[in-house]
Amino acid sequence: MADIGKDIYKAKSFLEQGDLVGIPTETVYGLAGNALNPDAVARIFAVKNRPSFDPLILHTYDLERVENFTLDIPEQLLPLAEKYWPGPLTLLLPKKEIVPDLVTSGLDKVAVRIPNHPLTRELLAILDFPLAAPSANPFGYISPTNANHVNDQLGDKIPYILDGGICNVGLESTIVGIEDGKVTVYRLGGLELDKIEAVVGNVQLMAHSSSNPKSPGMLKSHYSPKKPFIVGDLSELVKFYTSKGVDFAVLSFDKEIEEIPKFRQIQLSRNKDLSEAAKNLFASMRALDSLDVSVILSELLPEEGLGRAINDRLRRASVGE
Ligand code: TXA
Ligand code: MG
Repeated sequence: MADIGKDIYKAKSFLEQGDLVGIPTETVYGLAGNALNPDAVARIFAVKNRPSFDPLILHTYDLERVENFTLDIPEQLLPLAEKYWPGPLTLLLPKKEIVPDLVTSGLDKVAVRIPNHPLTRELLAILDFPLAAPSANPFGYISPTNANHVNDQLGDKIPYILDGGICNVGLESTIVGIEDGKVTVYRLGGLELDKIEAVVGNVQLMAHSSSNPKSPGMLKSHYSPKKPFIVGDLSELVKFYTSKGVDFAVLSFDKEIEEIPKFRQIQLSRNKDLSEAAKNLFASMRALDSLDVSVILSELLPEEGLGRAINDRLRRASVGE
């Protein structure tokens, strides 16, 4: 198992040796390595069991440093960077040669993010290289939102996990770029669409696809628990699976279902607070996935604000069922 602690100098020394470290961010935990060291980047893909066509996000300290890795920040995207960094926003920017092709899977744009977590900001401040960091989960599984999640799945493959507590946002960053001259959202995430549109006007949403090389990471089947995950009308689903005699667990927005034992159900937010629901989402999916049941039943949340990104994750968790 990995060593877990709050020592940024320890993290720094592992990263300088080309080793990988679990790092906290406000969205989810990342599996971080020196983004300018192709060996470290290759190890990220290996540890995650991630296909090399799915590019990584480069994490850095501030806008000034972003300029070291990108040719420019397009005029349409700059106001987003200025307003929402540090924060749950990733921008696709034309890359400089210094960024290894492995990071971008050969694409000419690099995904860049300035995360907003105090420990990781301190770490980035003392590093003289940026960090490549995908979510610290095996490819295709649910993203980790605390240090134990990382340790459970990748602890035997990395030396150190920087413990920054529970991730405040709980959903991955929103990915934004430009497509045919229009501001485009490639992945819904922790920064709500309305907040982006308030700054840049209407944006286009890029549909998920498993074959579109422009959004290689938007694979449809993602964020999946190991158990079959079924999304729909909860009372109908409960009725159906009860009648079949199947053991199930339930993930709901706010309601408790009386006929089901308490330990088999989780409410994401009893106050119907979407931020709270987002923060609880992945840990709840993991908890239900570890129960001795055959299926997990879930409902969708209101399709507004963070509810859109939450629903995106719920739908993708259920693909293949
Ligand atoms: O919140 C987050 O973004 C977290 C934390 C750790 O920062 N990271 C994260 O990374 O979610 P990951 O690797 O699980 O998802 C990154 C996605 C990729 O799957 C891909 O879709 C997209 O970012 N991406 C990265 N570079 C890209 C590029 N050059 N062009 C298009 N999409 C890119
Ligand atoms: Mg991921």
